[in-house]
Amino acid sequence: MIEATAGELMHRHIVVGLSGGVACYKTAEFVRELVKAGAGVQVVMTDAACQFVTPLTMQALSGRAVFASQWDVRQPNAMAHIELSRAADAIVVAPASADFIAQLAQGRGGELLALLCLARPAERVPLLVAPAMNREMWAHPATQRNVAQIRADGVTVLGPAAGDQACGEVGDGRMLEPDELRDELVACLQPKHLAGRRVLITAGPTFEAIDPVRGITNRSSGKMGFAIARAAAEAGADVTLVAGPVHLATPRGVARIDVQSAEQMLAAVLPLAPAHDVFVATAAVADWRPAHRAGQKIKKDGSGAVPTLAFVENPDILASVAHLPQAERPWCVGFAAETHDVVRHAREKRIRKGVPLVVANHGPSTFGRDDNALVLVDADGERELPHGSKLALARALVAEIAARLPRPRGGAA
Ligand code: CTP
Repeated sequence: MIEATAGELMHRHIVVGLSGGVACYKTAEFVRELVKAGAGVQVVMTDAACQFVTPLTMQALSGRAVFASQWDVRQPNAMAHIELSRAADAIVVAPASADFIAQLAQGRGGELLALLCLARPAERVPLLVAPAMNREMWAHPATQRNVAQIRADGVTVLGPAAGDQACGEVGDGRMLEPDELRDELVACLQPKHLAGRRVLITAGPTFEAIDPVRGITNRSSGKMGFAIARAAAEAGADVTLVAGPVHLATPRGVARIDVQSAEQMLAAVLPLAPAHDVFVATAAVADWRPAHRAGQKIKKDGSGAVPTLAFVENPDILASVAHLPQAERPWCVGFAAETHDVVRHAREKRIRKGVPLVVANHGPSTFGRDDNALVLVDADGERELPHGSKLALARALVAEIAARLPRPRGGAA
């Protein structure tokens, strides 16, 4: 998985709230991660949370005295719920107990943490809650009603995950891990350039079988495509990722379809394309496949004779989508991995494939790495996205795509 870089949380001010639950110990680690990433963290705890970890621990990790009572007079105006919520870039409640979620759903403010959630300026300060509770409590209709209500009120609910629980049972209700909470927070703070848009992405190599045990593939790692899928999801898009054979975790919130060959990739992409606003073809599709796939392993016959392979050309997935009738055609972005004359080849590829934007890079210097440099080539010329992590470049590319995108099809004029 591509790590979030420290810069994303630098100088952000995050209120981390803890309600009662064994998972409070994970929040200690989460706070440590945020501080390491350069964020300012103000911890607020309920009485119940103080039974699980001490304010002293959280103070030591955050470097700030913890707030635990609405009667705390440390704020100059003695209104901690107002001051703390106004100063925050985001509020994360982790763990959020069933009782705390019920308080949020009902708009109650009996304790400082619930009060400051209620008092936050909702349009400016996102509220994220990470439920943690026994699976029966999570599945209870009252909890599910309350969760649906807080979602409807604009709260982002993180998880919960399924797995072993502190009570010894197994099921839904585990709090997300500290690194997952951090990634969700970083995602939440990204600009929502693609809210309401649907994005289809191809990624990775394809594998063209010669026989049941051999095949032809290439050195694409899929990292750039997966980073774009993550960045598009962070930007608010509904993302479908059609992936060739790669060993990468699916970015959270992304729907993934695994394929092997170019023909399978085309068969997955074509029916989906018309329902999408954007198509980004990052896959390194094999240009040719063996004309015949042997049904059994090809064996040496002992004579030293080598088999002769005949090839046929694979379908061009990007060009096929780009040539759909206009009403069915998403806005297409191609990639060009070149070894020389990068920009010239990208310009030619843009015209040949009939797409508005081609993203060029130097293939051999990026395969498998976590960083890259890109050149965007469109009808107006070239624009460089300078060297950076693939995730940072993916976010910049998503912003560039959003800026060029026509209004939604069938949308208001
Ligand atoms: N592409 C595709 N289907 C193919 C070949 C390429 O969808 N069969 C897409 C790639 O995902 C990429 C773009 O087309 O977005 C350019 O791919 P590239 O391999 O660089 O170009 P080719 O068309 O294969 O041209 P060449 O191999 O001559 O550079």
